[in-house]
Amino acid sequence: MTDSTQTQATVILNDGHEIPQLGLGVWELSPQDAYTSTRAAISAGARHIDTAAAYGNEKDVGRAIADAVADGEVTREELYVTTKLWNADQAPGKAAEAIDTSLDNLGLDFVDLWLIHWPLPSYGRYVDAWRALIEARESGKTRSIGVSNFYPEVLDKIIDATGVVPAVNQIELHPGFSQQAQREDDAKRGIVTEAWSPLGRGLLDHPVITGVAESHEVTPAQVIVRWHLQQGIVVFPRSSQPERVRENLDVDGFDLTEDQIADITALDGDAAAAGRVGADPREAAFGIPEE
Ligand SMILES: NC(=O)c1ccc[n+]([C@@H]2O[C@H](COP(=O)([O-])OP(=O)(O)OC[C@H]3O[C@@H](n4cnc5c(N)ncnc54)[C@H](OP(=O)(O)O)[C@@H]3O)[C@@H](O)[C@H]2O)c1
Repeated sequence: MTDSTQTQATVILNDGHEIPQLGLGVWELSPQDAYTSTRAAISAGARHIDTAAAYGNEKDVGRAIADAVADGEVTREELYVTTKLWNADQAPGKAAEAIDTSLDNLGLDFVDLWLIHWPLPSYGRYVDAWRALIEARESGKTRSIGVSNFYPEVLDKIIDATGVVPAVNQIELHPGFSQQAQREDDAKRGIVTEAWSPLGRGLLDHPVITGVAESHEVTPAQVIVRWHLQQGIVVFPRSSQPERVRENLDVDGFDLTEDQIADITALDGDAAAAGRVGADPREAAFGIPEE
């Protein structure tokens, strides 16, 4: 449990690139916390950072990466950086500029993965946004492209329109909302599922999780991270506290049994474990620009 540098499992994407299965998410982290947590994660062996234009901390993540590289902790090639195209930048003519702004903010020539943040079905511009990401990949601004908060109907639309299958689909996913159907749909299409809000709400003190944690002498958060990893899900918990960043990455020394995975999966719909905690992507319409 102490050598978190073993936290290096990767998953192969449908375009041949490899993604580290465990990383750090930085949503809602202040600029200072985004810097500190990214540094702590890299020092603890993490190689995957998930940010987004909308998080307002690309500059701080970029500065943390630059400093870690300058200090000889890691090379750019060893790191895997994801960012996301914000909803407002699905407006006609906006995406290319937004992509360049994100790269500038991050201080990088390219990212490893670029995602459409939300499909915004009522706005109806996600196919154009997908074409912009295809172009970004062709021009070397990103190695892989994917989507977030997509569901079968909108996946059909972008794939039918372009013939390009996303490498990943990043969706809300945790034991309280385990998304079996969308995970199966992603897998059938060759899309890797990534989990957002992987720790859910009300789960860290749920008796099922704390009971499993006690049996392995680990923390509830470590149990939930393992629940994701053992099912092949890509996961990047967020913390503003370096100690917790390290805790969430230090998950190599134990395995959940199949029964424990099943017991945790059965929390889907449990009253004490909130179900969906974020927006329903079929309805989400925030960030749509006024035209
Ligand atoms: N694509 C999307 O639409 C979308 C949406 C949401 C999130 N995401 C991505 O997914 C990442 C993870 O999701 P998330 O940030 O929503 O939530 P999360 O990682 O599931 O949970 C973060 C919360 O759990 C607490 N926490 C973290 N580690 C802990 C530990 N070991 N023990 C106790 N509490 C702990 C944190 O508090 P402290 O900071 O106080 O530790 C924070 O309040 C995001 O950062 C972002 O990169 C994407």
